[in-house]
Parts: sequence; C-alpha cells; structure tokens
Amino acid sequence: MEITLPYIYSYFTVFSLLIALIFLSEKIHHRRRNLPPSPPSLPVIGHLHLIKLPLHRTFHKLSQILGPVLSVRYGSQLVVVVSSPSAVEECFTRNDIVLANRPRTTGAKYFGYNYTTVVASPYGDHWRNLRRLMSVEILSTSRLNGFLSIRQDEVGRLLRRLYQRSSTDFAKVEMKSRLSDLTFNVVMRMIAGKRYYGEDLENSAEAEEFRELVTKAFMGGGASNPADFLPILRWIDYKGFEKNLAKIHERFDKLLQGLIDEHRRDKSKNSMIDHLLSLQESQPEYYTDAIIKGLIIVIILAGTDTSAVTMEWAMSLLVNHPEVLKKARAEVDAHIGQDRLIDEHDLDKLTYLKAIISETFRLCPAAPMLVPHSSSDDCTIGGYNVPRDTLLLVNAWAIHRDPKVWDDPTSFKPERFEGGEVEGHKLMPFGFGRRACPGVGLAQRIVGLALGSLIQCFEWERVGEDPVDLSEGNGLTMPKAEPLEAMCKARDIMKKVLSDGANDA
Ligand code: HEM
Repeated sequence: MEITLPYIYSYFTVFSLLIALIFLSEKIHHRRRNLPPSPPSLPVIGHLHLIKLPLHRTFHKLSQILGPVLSVRYGSQLVVVVSSPSAVEECFTRNDIVLANRPRTTGAKYFGYNYTTVVASPYGDHWRNLRRLMSVEILSTSRLNGFLSIRQDEVGRLLRRLYQRSSTDFAKVEMKSRLSDLTFNVVMRMIAGKRYYGEDLENSAEAEEFRELVTKAFMGGGASNPADFLPILRWIDYKGFEKNLAKIHERFDKLLQGLIDEHRRDKSKNSMIDHLLSLQESQPEYYTDAIIKGLIIVIILAGTDTSAVTMEWAMSLLVNHPEVLKKARAEVDAHIGQDRLIDEHDLDKLTYLKAIISETFRLCPAAPMLVPHSSSDDCTIGGYNVPRDTLLLVNAWAIHRDPKVWDDPTSFKPERFEGGEVEGHKLMPFGFGRRACPGVGLAQRIVGLALGSLIQCFEWERVGEDPVDLSEGNGLTMPKAEPLEAMCKARDIMKKVLSDGANDA
C-alpha cells in the first residue's frame, strides 16, 4: 500500500483522538473516585516524566498549583503527597495505623532483608517486636549512656585533627568527610567495637570493603527504580538494577555475617552485636542472625548520614551567620567556660545551641520527604479518598518553609525556637506517629555534642567573601551540593585541654 500524506494525517488524527479520549476518561474516573487532584498524566507511565530531583522541590511546585493534598501516578502506583500541617496531623493521628505500612520497593527487598527489617517491614507484630527491641535493648537511655565514651572519644579525635591544621592560624578545612567519618565511627564502634574510617583501623582490608559497600548501599537504596512502578520493566530487569542490588546485598550480608561470627568467637567487646548475641542465646528462635544483620544494616543506613549531613548544614548556616555563631559561642563560654570541654550533660542548658539545631532541622531536614508510607486500607485525607496500597509521601521540607506556617520562613533565625517546644504538626525532621524515627535521642546527642564542641574549641569563618553555597544535591539524605569547606582556628581551650593528644590523632 502506498503511504500518502493524507493517509499519515488521518492516522495521526485518529491517534491524537485516542490519546485525548484516554486522557479524558482517566480524568473523569479520577474525579469520580474523589482522588486528590493531579496534573495531566500520560498513558502507562502516569506522571513519571514530571518527577524530577530533588523530589521535595518538584512536589512543592505541584502543591502550589494543586493544593496541600495531591496525587500523582508512578506508572500504575498511586502516590499521594501531603504538604500542610493539618493534612500531616490527619495522616498521623486518625489514619496513623492505616498509613503505618511501608511500600515494597526493590531497595527494601534487598537492604530490608526481604521486608523484615524495622524500616521495611509492614505494620504488625514483627515490626512491633523490632521497635520494642530497638528502644529497650539498643537505643534506651541506659544503653546510650553506656556508649558515651565512644562519642566523646570520636569527637575528641575530630577536634585534634582540626587542631593539627589550625593551632596557630586560620586554616582551610573540608568538613563533609570529617563529619561523615565521625558518625560512621561512632555508630560502628557502638555496633561492632571497631573503627572503619580514618586512622587506627583494626583491619584495613575489611574497613575498605565496608566503606565501598556502604557507599554503594547508599546509592542503591536511595535510587528510585522505575521498575518498581512499571511491572514490564521488572520482567526484563531494567538496566540490571535488581541484579546489581542483589550483588551488593550479598557482599554486605557476607561482611555482616563475618562480624557476627567474629563476635561469637570473642565476646569481650561489649558492643551491640555482643548484646544481641547474648539475647540470641536465651531466645534463639527470635534473635536469628538474619534479624541481627537487619538491625545492623538499619542502624548504618538510617543512623549515620542523617546526622552527618545535619551537622554539615548546621556548620554551613553558622559560617554564613557570624552573629549567630558569636551568640552560640557566648552561651557555651558562659555555661562551660574555657577550662573543660563541653559534654552531653551540658546540652540541656544550652538553649541557643538547641535552637540552632532545631532551625537547621527546619531549613535542611535530612529526610525532606520523610520515609515513604503505604496505606493498608482505604482512608481519607483532606476530604479526598485514598485507596488501599497508595504510597504516601510527606513533604516536610515544604511545610518547614511555608509562609502560612512560619514567619520569614527562608531566613535562618534560631531565635524562633528559643521559647521552647513547637506546637502542632509544623516541624517534623523525625516524622510523627508510630513510624517516627526511634533514633532521635542518639541523633540529638551526636549532633549536639559535636556541634557544641566545634563552637567551643574553634573560631570559624568562610573561605572567601561569598557566603557558603546552600544548594542541595541529590541523595538518600538531603546532602549539600558542594561539600563544606571553612576556615578554622583553634581557641585557647584546645591548647589547654586537648593539645596533649594532638600528635597522636
Ligand atoms: C539527624 C538524624 C536523623 C534524622 C533526621 C532521622 C529522620 C528519620 C525520619 C524522617 C524517619 C521516617 C519517619 C516516617 O516514616 O514518617 C526515620 C525513620 C527511622 N530512623 Fe531516623 N533519623 C535520624 C537518625 C536516626 C538514628 C541515629 C537512628 C538509629 C540509630 C535512626 C533509625 C531510624 C529507623 C529504624 C527508622 C524507621 C522506623 C520505622 O519504620 O518504624 N534514625 N528517621
């Protein structure tokens, strides 16, 4: 058959009509089901083409057009995004149980040990047991107190390394990797009794393997996999995504099993693994190796980078606001003086330091969209229907910067928190409800101690005239696009209190 121009035109017209019909019928169907408003979508992929990183900015723009409760489709998956305190309150009070599931993504399959870890598992008895285990056996006040010397030692090492560079004059220091090493070493010494970053490594080959796997796990666990939402891509294992995750998981699992076996042979370290192994002796059917490995991986993935990026944001905001830094230093000097180092017991008294941390969480939440939830039943949010198995995202970042919620929301003003606790559902760096972060206590201690010590022991300035660039990059936790570099100079207290150990750090 000859393909003429009129033939092509008529073919094109029929095709366009078909698309318009699909679009219209979907719109009518959407409205009839009273789903939250959504932008125009494409057949099959839904709104995937609109989803640009960083997600919190994309959804913030959409919510300004569609309102604080909106929906999009990731392929066949319905996603509801909420961006107002009242919608958040509805989600985590009236609907808290219904919305307490987690979506079954490829990342959660591998790094969530087949959806059995506390982050990945669905709401129910198993999840409840793990949460209890975490709060009683791992993150309780007495266990956190027991690990105080680790946090003090690691902060001391950070201070001494900075002192080596800046004992006599201002020196340029890169802070991102230092803060990241700090949190990883604190967490790994709590878990396994060893350091994996910097100096004094027990086994450098193992440490290198560990560091490589952690980096890959952060990349793999955070990347969203289009195949999670387009089943056809799953069949053909789109870009080998799943195979790659399976491989990283296998290597990680082997390393963690090695750690557990090592602690089974030598019980002298008094680490979390030793404690979990002693529980395994009395209840072997529950505290299996898989459960222990799942707990370790969760603490590594949820508890390290989150605190590190928070400290990096806080330091960036402080060097951009010398007047805030000066006030914070005056507070520390007034309460602690220049003869001893700040310790965790001091943190409660340091209300301005606490306000700086809250203001950092407000402007730069490490998990700007929290962690995705999933609905186990039909429910309503903001008067719209939310069917079972909908993925729920909370745009904490947008609420933290909403001018209807906060005065002058884009300015860094710790004073707004000096009055004490924030009421309502306005500030949510750790989420709300049953699935809220169980690591708040540990995070507050690490961030508070490290930040307070950096303020007490050093003068800080920007590298040049320009303010530190505060743009966000992409990642599992909200990173700074450019790693923070700043000028620092040791204060007298460093000479008095810490210089003795400066040469061995
Ligand atoms: C600055 C530090 C941290 C921030 C900003 C943070 C933030 C969050 C957020 C937003 C969630 C999700 C809440 C939700 O689903 O609605 C979460 C969950 C979680 N966090 Fe944290 N977190 C931090 C530190 C930690 C630490 C130190 C640990 C543990 C040692 C930890 C362990 C967890 C776990 C296990 C969950 C999952 C809870 C569940 O699904 O039941 N986090 N965190």
